[in-house]
Amino acid sequence: MKKISIVYWSGTGNTEVMAQAVSKGAQDNCEVKLVTVEEATKEDILNADAVAIGCPSMGAEELEPEYMEPFIASFENIDLNNKPMILFGSYDWGDGEWMREWDERMKKYGANILEEGLIAHLTPEGEDLSKCEEIGKKLANA
Ligand SMILES: Cc1cc2nc3c(=O)[nH]c(=O)nc-3n(C[C@H](O)[C@H](O)[C@H](O)COP(=O)(O)O)c2cc1C
Repeated sequence: MKKISIVYWSGTGNTEVMAQAVSKGAQDNCEVKLVTVEEATKEDILNADAVAIGCPSMGAEELEPEYMEPFIASFENIDLNNKPMILFGSYDWGDGEWMREWDERMKKYGANILEEGLIAHLTPEGEDLSKCEEIGKKLANA
């Protein structure tokens, strides 16, 4: 059975709601692991057939510094070997710059970014949540 990992960080729960919707979309015929970055290991990424990673825009258009940034940096010198991947996250006042940079960074690290990172303004609502589920389906079929 195909293994999908969904790793996320969320401070106030918005990105967590997105992660749960991605997980819902991926459920059919897949073994889904939904885990916070605090609990995740590198193997959750390396051993999965396809991966979604979620983090809101923090700092000044940056990844969350304490857990997500070092986790992502740990893949810099490991070739992700065309791992199918989609990023997602919530934001507030920005224009999604953190997500565009994150997509480019993961491509440099060797990920196969299947589509541009999904961003939701603050609390994800109807259409945001259906897009999250579509991401899950896409990863399941990758
Ligand atoms: C310390 C901090 C820094 C932030 N920096 C940005 C930012 O640079 N750009 C932006 O669009 N939103 C920024 N935000 C807003 C968050 O991205 C937004 O509140 C998001 O919904 C939080 O997601 P979460 O509930 O998953 O933690 C920041 C929020 C905090 C607390």
